[in-house]
Amino acid sequence: MTFVGWGKVILLGEHAVVYGYPALAGALDRGVTIAPVPTPAGGPLRLDIPAWDLAVTANHDAEHHQVGRALAAIADALGVGFPAVSLVGDAQIPPGAGLGSSAAMAIAVARALLAHAKRKPDLATLTEAAAASEQLLHGRPSGVDVAIAAAGGIGVFRKSSGFRRIAPSAAPPLRVLIGPSGAPRSTARMVERVRQATDGQAGDPRLVELGELTDAGTNALLAGDLAGLGAAMNRAQAVLRAIDVSTEQLDALCEAARSAGAHGAKLTGAGGGGAVIAIAPRDKEQAVLAAWRDANVHGFPAVVGAQSL
Ligand code: PMV
Repeated sequence: MTFVGWGKVILLGEHAVVYGYPALAGALDRGVTIAPVPTPAGGPLRLDIPAWDLAVTANHDAEHHQVGRALAAIADALGVGFPAVSLVGDAQIPPGAGLGSSAAMAIAVARALLAHAKRKPDLATLTEAAAASEQLLHGRPSGVDVAIAAAGGIGVFRKSSGFRRIAPSAAPPLRVLIGPSGAPRSTARMVERVRQATDGQAGDPRLVELGELTDAGTNALLAGDLAGLGAAMNRAQAVLRAIDVSTEQLDALCEAARSAGAHGAKLTGAGGGGAVIAIAPRDKEQAVLAAWRDANVHGFPAVVGAQSL
């Protein structure tokens, strides 16, 4: 048996979501899968994800690898102890690119540990366990990554009310082009940068505008108006630049996508590196990917929101 946690893209609303505004986000058709392999002869609780060069054991020690501590936090939150199990994983998304890799890993791990303990997964338990891991790895995340990694689908997330799917039957699967820039970044550092740019004021007009753009983009998506969604994304990219979380490289990748015919493009996730996304008419997708390749970025199309558990 393998267990999955979905990767995610934030279409609109990153950073503002930390201040209570809505974010429009959806699950990717890829993420992290984990197979629990019991080691009856004993041994530590391990997690191996060769695709990320990751091999850790569960440990609370502050000196230990932080993913090993996150693994311990998940096991603690589930109350399963440290069973003699190797969690062997595969990943179809890069780590640290703003695609929800750590939340996907945490949800897949939590599902695998519950299955090993012969317990049924429920969304609240999974979410709580993955949130413990995310807090360790990222400080004080809004929770959007975990909600989507667990539930799949596409919808609007708010800190106050959680994740609400939007018209899953009516909305056609959305195709998004994803361009991992290859530049590393830290979510916690970017969240701090926004706090400095806005004085931590939730009423900062740029955060207000990001919230309004999420509403406008969500309505456009529900109406099947991809050009409208793209316009909201383009404006959001300008506002994200104004609050200091874009980079020249990310701006250039967005501009290249638009010049190649995309409806809209922006960074996704925390920014400062990580990935850009673009929405393009089907017949322009290859041109967008080619423009990114010219900039040494190997993008790919992904279907967003069609996955649910
Ligand atoms: O960690 P990332 O790159 O997926 O970004 C998370 C999105 C933020 O809004 C920047 C932070 C959060 O906790 O929601």
